[in-house]
Amino acid sequence: MAALNLTKPEPTVSADVLSSFRKVDPAQYPELANYMWDDVYGKGDKMAPGALYLAMEMTNRMNMKPGSEVLDLACGKGVTSEFLARTFDVNVSAVDLWITEEFLRSKFESAGLGHKIRAYNLDVTEPLPFADEQFDSIFCMQAFHSFGGSVTFVHQLLRHLKSGGQICIAGTCFNEEFPNVQQSQIFSITNGWDAEYDKYHSPIWWRSLFESTELVDVFYCQELDNGLEMWEDVILYEWQRSEFSLDWLRESQWLINHVAHSRHHKPYLTHFVISAAKRYRHGAIDQCQR
Ligand SMILES: C[S@@+](CC[C@H](N)C(=O)[O-])C[C@H]1O[C@@H](n2cnc3c(N)ncnc32)[C@H](O)[C@@H]1O
Repeated sequence: MAALNLTKPEPTVSADVLSSFRKVDPAQYPELANYMWDDVYGKGDKMAPGALYLAMEMTNRMNMKPGSEVLDLACGKGVTSEFLARTFDVNVSAVDLWITEEFLRSKFESAGLGHKIRAYNLDVTEPLPFADEQFDSIFCMQAFHSFGGSVTFVHQLLRHLKSGGQICIAGTCFNEEFPNVQQSQIFSITNGWDAEYDKYHSPIWWRSLFESTELVDVFYCQELDNGLEMWEDVILYEWQRSEFSLDWLRESQWLINHVAHSRHHKPYLTHFVISAAKRYRHGAIDQCQR
């Protein structure tokens, strides 16, 4: 694991704040022992906080059998799709809206995983070109909050999951419901496009959404113990990757402030994982909306 080399930028408020930020302890993830810090974050593929640490938190709560079919929903630049195929020997359908099939295909082929991962450029809120019960698992990291958070969407998606199959989602959240994020002075100051706080929900909210589908049994739904550290870690990583640039510090000041604020106030920024199994229930599949 790459050591954090805190060379000395000009002193700024952000730099002082950053000296108190914590790295995620890589010893918690022995499966990533051979990954450098840069590998965990997809080597510049701009992964959201948590990156492969968060992926491990998810797979620790899933049953990834070799040869099983996994849907990587909103796979971004495919870092998790590669990780899943390589680590668990599963077949992955990697779906994303903003990233092209060509980019993903070429990346998977270069990694020698073209035979294990199929790339799709799709809007997952539209009907998907997959068969009913096609997948053993659905994996969705750092994206589910963008899909509207509705029971209708979850129903539509669950059509494609086998009975007994698992759905696991993980992402950024506030630890508890935020009464009105727009009215919060500190969280209302953003760069205008990167913060989707109005779509964040607490783990309790996500549990309630999934349970209200009546199609799954939720067996894990919690804030992660190191959920806030994942935010601190990504900031330290991005700062190092910028070669400790002052421009980066200035541009990221708003986020650094939010994370620093989260260390001492509620509601705070963190991460959650929810893992659920689709019920074997007579008629359950028929309830899914076509
Ligand atoms: C923060 S990135 C996360 C990517 C990846 N899961 C990861 O953790 O590295 C969110 C991704 O969601 C994708 N996305 C957003 N809305 C989508 C939609 N309606 N259908 C498919 N993908 C979507 C975007 O294209 C983007 O790549």
